[in-house]
Amino acid sequence: MSDVGLLHLLQLQSKQRNMCNLTLCVLLFLTCSCSPLSSCPAQCLCETTVVNCVSQNLTSIPQPLPENITALNINGNDIRNLNNESFPRPLEHLTNLYVSGSQQLDSMVFKNLPSLRLLDLSNNRISQFSVEALPQDNKIEVLNLSKSLYNHSYIGVFANLFKHRLPKVSHLDLSNNDLVLLPEGIFAGLSDLTVLDLRNNSLVTIRNDTLCNRALKELDLRDNALKVLPNVTLEKLGSISDLRVRLAGNPWRCDCNIEDMLIWLAKHEFVVDSFNLTCSGPARLKNVPLLTLIQSQLSCWSNAGDAMDRVLEPSYVFLGMVLALIGVIFLLVLYLNRKGIKGWMYNIRDACRDHMEGYHYRYEINSDPRLANLSLNSDV
Ligand SMILES: *[C@@H]1O[C@H](CO)[C@@H](O)[C@H](O)[C@H]1NC(C)=O
Ligand SMILES: *[C@@H]1O[C@H](CO)[C@@H](O)[C@H](O)[C@H]1NC(C)=O
Ligand SMILES: *[C@@H]1O[C@H](CO)[C@@H](O)[C@H](O)[C@H]1NC(C)=O
Ligand SMILES: *[C@@H]1O[C@H](CO)[C@@H](O)[C@H](O)[C@H]1NC(C)=O
Ligand SMILES: *[C@@H]1O[C@H](CO)[C@@H](O)[C@H](O)[C@H]1NC(C)=O
Ligand SMILES: *[C@@H]1O[C@H](CO)[C@@H](O)[C@H](O)[C@H]1NC(C)=O
Ligand SMILES: *[C@@H]1O[C@H](CO)[C@@H](O)[C@H](O)[C@H]1NC(C)=O
Ligand SMILES: *[C@@H]1O[C@H](CO)[C@@H](O)[C@H](O)[C@H]1NC(C)=O
Ligand SMILES: *[C@@H]1O[C@H](CO)[C@@H](O)[C@H](O)[C@H]1NC(C)=O
Repeated sequence: MSDVGLLHLLQLQSKQRNMCNLTLCVLLFLTCSCSPLSSCPAQCLCETTVVNCVSQNLTSIPQPLPENITALNINGNDIRNLNNESFPRPLEHLTNLYVSGSQQLDSMVFKNLPSLRLLDLSNNRISQFSVEALPQDNKIEVLNLSKSLYNHSYIGVFANLFKHRLPKVSHLDLSNNDLVLLPEGIFAGLSDLTVLDLRNNSLVTIRNDTLCNRALKELDLRDNALKVLPNVTLEKLGSISDLRVRLAGNPWRCDCNIEDMLIWLAKHEFVVDSFNLTCSGPARLKNVPLLTLIQSQLSCWSNAGDAMDRVLEPSYVFLGMVLALIGVIFLLVLYLNRKGIKGWMYNIRDACRDHMEGYHYRYEINSDPRLANLSLNSDV
């Protein structure tokens, strides 16, 4: 055995003194020619301390990782489960970790990574996660949870995490998660939050207590299901200095309820894409830019477009009923008054008959040739 080999063996022994006995170490040494702990795992590319193992069909985190590793990218593999064996040794220098495609995150999974600054868990389907997965005083600044929640109700678990375990987060990506409602005070613990990405969810409203983060600078709410933002929420957002909000791609409902919001859009500049906001309803205002609307277009009554039919349907029924009632009353009046009407009819009939009889008489006289002759002769 060479001196160098022996040195490595001694290194191994000292590092793993508690974990393996001498025979195991010798076995390891013989099978893998005992690569030093700081060398690169077989399936990965290492550039100094940056380790890249993208799309290698890995089913678990390659071991051992170089001791002084600072960044690890294991995106695009088939790691189904990150657990306490994924990072068995402390990696004091690891700051950036990219893990896409792992579907389960057990508790204590990141406890050996005390220096993490960036954690990318995007494109997972996380359904098992506990607050203990992160060390108590972690330094995570960028947390990417884009398209990573198993379903929208799982946000509750992360809300708990945000409240208690992420004191340093400044950049939070929650895009593409089908979120409908944000739990009350979900971001309240994130005092350093500056960039919040909620794009392409299904948010229907933003509560007035959801965004009270004084450090917030960028808020992306594009492509959600917002129909209107209430006064109190706008007031909250407007009171955060230097905030830039994006709101395009939401189905704004342009009726009387949106008036306050239009006033805000016109008066304040924190909505940077305000020119890109368009109405999605009522039908007659579809795709009209919000900033071109005038107040008289924003009615909740006669102009309510597709709601019109729904309003008119019962009114047609009502009109029919009124007309039927009038008809019935008319007939009733006729019936009650039948004697008077009968007498009146007789009078008219008699009058007509007298009149007609007079005509008839005269006609008979005029048309009788004998009488005509008589009258002619009498002239002679
Ligand atoms: C990290 O390990 C590599 C390989 O052993 C070594 O060349 C490098 O100097 C180490 N870097 C630090 C910062 O310790
Ligand atoms: C991963 O697996 C797929 C199919 O199983 C194969 O085509 C591909 O070559 C593998 N990639 C690597 C880097 O081994
Ligand atoms: C890892 O977790 C399993 C169960 O999830 C447990 O039995 C085991 O003791 C843990 N190992 C360590 C080193 O914590
Ligand atoms: C979300 O997933 C959990 C399991 O993690 C399940 O119990 C729950 O019913 C799901 N909710 C919806 C709305 O699908
Ligand atoms: C989060 O991950 C998604 C996709 O993996 C990427 O598009 C996005 O830029 C990432 N966000 C941040 C803040 O790095
Ligand atoms: C929006 O999110 C859904 C999942 O919630 C995803 O399937 C879709 O591709 C995303 N759209 C864009 C434009 O990113
Ligand atoms: C937020 O809304 C709730 C109910 O909608 C109300 O009770 C509360 O006073 C509001 N808070 C602020 C700061 O406006
Ligand atoms: C909304 O705020 C504006 C001015 O800030 C105010 O004039 C208006 O009455 C408020 N609307 C409601 C419904 O409170
Ligand atoms: C408005 O929309 C257009 C086209 O989609 C886009 O190019 C532009 O950047 C948007 N403006 C803002 C301020 O987001």
